[in-house]
Amino acid sequence: MPWRASSKTCLITGANSGIGKVMALEIAKKDANVVMVCRSREKGEAARNDIIRESSNESVELMLADLSSMKQVRKLAEEFKQKHDKLHILINNAALWPTKRIMTSEGLETQFAINHLSHFLLTNLLLDIIKSSSPARIINTSSGLHKRAKIDFDNLQAEKSYKHMRVYGQTKLENVLFTKELARRLEGTGVTVNSFTPGMTSTNLGRYMSGGAKWFMRHMARSPEKGASTGVYLATSPEVEGVTGKYFGDRKEMKYNKIGDDVGIAKRLWNVSEEFSGLRES
Ligand SMILES: NC(=O)c1ccc[n+]([C@@H]2O[C@H](COP(=O)([O-])OP(=O)(O)OC[C@H]3O[C@@H](n4cnc5c(N)ncnc54)[C@H](OP(=O)(O)O)[C@@H]3O)[C@@H](O)[C@H]2O)c1
Repeated sequence: MPWRASSKTCLITGANSGIGKVMALEIAKKDANVVMVCRSREKGEAARNDIIRESSNESVELMLADLSSMKQVRKLAEEFKQKHDKLHILINNAALWPTKRIMTSEGLETQFAINHLSHFLLTNLLLDIIKSSSPARIINTSSGLHKRAKIDFDNLQAEKSYKHMRVYGQTKLENVLFTKELARRLEGTGVTVNSFTPGMTSTNLGRYMSGGAKWFMRHMARSPEKGASTGVYLATSPEVEGVTGKYFGDRKEMKYNKIGDDVGIAKRLWNVSEEFSGLRES
């Protein structure tokens, strides 16, 4: 049977806004059971109501978690598994781009925690249920800004210096390296994992920016519908069945930073992510 989203269960983080909200809506329109992960009940409920109204699909659920907290990520994974016995599509999409270094109550730098570690931990905690739902797909929202980045293992928490653009790019390269290493680990399981760039999209991501950068993101960038289109394609299209470990943009495979092919860096990042996220203690 070719891949169809209908009746599949799809969990998507950062689903109340921007690219995540459109992906949730488009996947709901294809009759999937959509589980939205949001940190604010108010924003999450409002988006859920919009999605149900616009998709005419009642099977849209809201789960709450602040992904800057690894404790809350664990609680989310447990709650999901209590309610669901299948997960066919996981979309790791939430991100934040603060222009100042902010530490979480668990001692993690915020971008590192939300943009990379939360999704690393969530995916690993859900892997048993994803594998048992095979064929299944994992999709990581990266960014074209990963291409100029490198991984500074001596400054992963930006303790030496915080340049917000550099830190953001590094977390988005971490998304690509995580995708590549996970694809190697999932070989033969029927679970695929790919990353994609939405392209510069008009969303709330630029909320902390000011001046020209903020104006450009709001007014010159593509629509959230266009930004979400590659993610929807990776989640729902039969064309990408069996395709894994790749990076996409505009619904096509794209070139990525050559660091993405460095198996040593990917494995090292995996090991430190196990430590920082607390996965190793599981
Ligand atoms: N926009 C672009 O130009 C662009 C380009 C390349 C890649 N991307 C990527 O696209 C993805 C979606 O971003 P977007 O542009 O759609 O931005 P957005 O409108 O700001 O959406 C980001 C989502 O992440 C959620 N989020 C942030 N911090 C969170 C936390 N601690 N816990 C739980 N959820 C949290 C936000 O929730 P709140 O509303 O509660 O903050 C929101 O739902 C990100 O991975 C981003 O890196 C965007």
